[in-house]
Amino acid sequence: MRKDRILVIGANGQIGTVLTAALREHYGNNNVIASDIRANNDDNSPFELLNILDGERLSEIVKTKKITQIYHLAAILSASGEKNPRKTWDINMNGLFNVLDVAKDHAIDKVFFPSSIAVFGKTTPKYDTPQHTILDATTIYGISKDAGESWCQYYFLKHGVDVRSLRFPGVISYQSMPGGGTTDYAVDIFHKAVQGQNFECFLEKDTMLPMIYMPDTIRATCELMDAPAEKIKIRTSYNLAAMSFTPQEIADEIKQHIPNFKISYKPDFRQAIADSWTATIDDSEARKDWGWKEAFDISKMTKDMIIQLGKKYQKKQMI
Ligand code: SER
Repeated sequence: MRKDRILVIGANGQIGTVLTAALREHYGNNNVIASDIRANNDDNSPFELLNILDGERLSEIVKTKKITQIYHLAAILSASGEKNPRKTWDINMNGLFNVLDVAKDHAIDKVFFPSSIAVFGKTTPKYDTPQHTILDATTIYGISKDAGESWCQYYFLKHGVDVRSLRFPGVISYQSMPGGGTTDYAVDIFHKAVQGQNFECFLEKDTMLPMIYMPDTIRATCELMDAPAEKIKIRTSYNLAAMSFTPQEIADEIKQHIPNFKISYKPDFRQAIADSWTATIDDSEARKDWGWKEAFDISKMTKDMIIQLGKKYQKKQMI
């Protein structure tokens, strides 16, 4: 068996930052090559500058670094994507084509492609959204993820590329910040609360969305990628669930730890995006096929976020 050599694309993003560190723990620092369009000055670990639209450069990195697995995390998210739909389509789709082609041409062992709850739309069942259901995304981000899922399945069926994918809910993390998503409020709210500030939410108080804590996000990704290929029955993308809550519910949860915390609501254009998504997800296929089970619910996650961010801000004050 050849040695695992990993390329993470979009390694400086919200998930990429934490996933790269986790993969380095698992595969060894020098076997995980981080890449991003933005330079990374943080440490001396392997890093390559990469614009995902540059297929030749991607191919060169894969060849020279002897890459065997690719985690393709680079994309423009739902809210940012609406500001420039053509550019979003270009980056999200042509970036994926470059990854799928390089995987096919260089016989890459496995590829990870994150999809999203953004593939769902107004006519998708809102509660317990099934795995196989109507996908009528209204954001360009969601449309690109929907098309991307089908392209992944196509490359698996036609070319035998072992692509695996998860429909991520909103990801909540203390280690890194999200950028340009509709679920970002659920991270920002913690930063404000821990710093003793009030929070103005860009969604209505009763807008329920599916969410997941970062440790579960990373574990789900690694468990999916480690599962034997024959267990992966869904080659578009797996529904994945951990918890669902509204802004009011998360604010109430935070108040149990920070009683003076106050939230107010001022919905903007992101309300329509959130309203088009579903509220709770049926992920029984993931549980059945490769044994998915979340470890964090809303109260466990809230407690941990407040502890971890508390440490972070305390450290900053001491510097
Ligand atoms: N968190 C993403 C967004 O809000 C959804 O995948 O765009």
